Amino acid sequence: MSDHNSLKTMQNLIEKYNVPGPRYTSYPTVPYWQTADFKEELWIGSLKKAFSQTNSEKGISLYIHLPYCESLCTFCGCNKRITKNHAVEMPYIQALLKEWSLYAGYFDEKPIVSEIHLGGGTPTFFSAESLEKLLLGILNTVSLSKDFEFSFEGHPNNTTFGHLQKLYDLGFRRVSFGVQDYDPIVQKAIHRIQPFEHVRKVTDWSREIGYDSISHDLVYGLPFQKLSGIIDTIEKTIALKPDRLSFYSYAHVPWLKGNGQRGYREEDLPSAVLKRELYETGRDLFEKAGYSEIGMDHFALPGDKMFAAAGNQQLHRNFMGYTTSQTKVLIGLGVSSISDSWYGFAQNTKDLDKYYAMINANQLPVVKGHILSDEDLVTRKQILDIMCNLSVQINEDDRDFEEKNVFMEKMADFEADGLLKMTGNNLIVTEKGKAFLRNICMAFDKRMLRGKSEERLFSKTV
Ligand SMILES: C[S@@+](CC[C@H](N)C(=O)[O-])C[C@H]1O[C@@H](n2cnc3c(N)ncnc32)[C@H](O)[C@@H]1O
Ligand code: SF4
Repeated sequence: MSDHNSLKTMQNLIEKYNVPGPRYTSYPTVPYWQTADFKEELWIGSLKKAFSQTNSEKGISLYIHLPYCESLCTFCGCNKRITKNHAVEMPYIQALLKEWSLYAGYFDEKPIVSEIHLGGGTPTFFSAESLEKLLLGILNTVSLSKDFEFSFEGHPNNTTFGHLQKLYDLGFRRVSFGVQDYDPIVQKAIHRIQPFEHVRKVTDWSREIGYDSISHDLVYGLPFQKLSGIIDTIEKTIALKPDRLSFYSYAHVPWLKGNGQRGYREEDLPSAVLKRELYETGRDLFEKAGYSEIGMDHFALPGDKMFAAAGNQQLHRNFMGYTTSQTKVLIGLGVSSISDSWYGFAQNTKDLDKYYAMINANQLPVVKGHILSDEDLVTRKQILDIMCNLSVQINEDDRDFEEKNVFMEKMADFEADGLLKMTGNNLIVTEKGKAFLRNICMAFDKRMLRGKSEERLFSKTV
């Protein structure tokens, strides 16, 4: 097929499939949680069950949300609070430690931690000493599994040698830096001026100190992004040779993020077709430089743990995105964090004042959640298989007659469009289908298919 024809086919597919849809960092996705049926006792019950099944064998995972940033990037979809006042650090650390002690009180064995991730917001908004206080406060109450993995998100504009050294001394071996894009026009539009030199400096320091896995976050689909600019960004990135890359699709959700995503106009964003070309250009350059595409929007060099996990079908996906973690228990601490017990989800309040008030009243700051039904557990596994392994086993008896007809029609349509191949009950996503992974998952998403339309909640799938 000529390049022109293949571009035309991709253009047709994008027109057909570029609809709002979830990124499937959970199933059910948050808008379809049955919050009315959720009770804290049920959540704690599900957590204790998962803890007893996983603690001694695989340990538990902790996600700690550090919401503060000094300056607002107007594209940002994360839960953050902008301030230059560093007096907020200590009260927040104390609240996190209290929240952890509330959780630890539910367990009758000492927790064994296999993973800690500091996310944000900007963890490096906090001083190295504040982070040390937080981590020592937790580490003094737990044991560590033998292959524990600690990681954090660092902002290249404010990560110091001191942060990197202190966190390394505490056991951190993985760091991801937010790069986004090096084009000065894009940086101005997203209100994030970040010279290449800053990224080079923090990457070199991390390597010098001994970090095993350095990751860079890039985003495609940002305002004013052009092919020439993305090529330059990727060449600069390859020159620093990070072990892993997240190459995120820009999620444009201004209705959720208030004024934060209104620093530019809709027409300043690349079209869906250009956005896909930006991704494919980047992917080809990364592959030429020795990276492998992992799941959706991620790349890794052959020496990185994520590369091996993808090859051994050991990749997992949760609220942090793709991970190599295998535990059933993820406890999310801090404002807006989500916890996952495999059998249930619970989300903390996004309101900082309410977070403090609940913690001060010795209450878990959980405000909503979902307990998974037996059917949810089956669907959850199927969606994880598609997102992580690009293949899934379909169970014929899984749907009633009408749902089965609709489902099989969708599968036939995907197959006719060349997005997947069915062999018996086995479905395999094709190379072309990787661009539409979220659409394929949507055909499995029973909660969404049965629920009312929630279109405005999700960014578009391409
Ligand atoms: C919490 S931030 C990283 C840490 C630090 N705050 C920084 O900006 O360097 C996590 C990553 O999410 C990604 N991100 C944020 N908003 C996004 C959006 N609207 N669409 C896609 N990716 C986004 C960015 O790549 C960002 O680096
Ligand atoms: S991209 Fe990072 S630094 Fe910028 S507002 Fe979002 S969380 Fe804060």
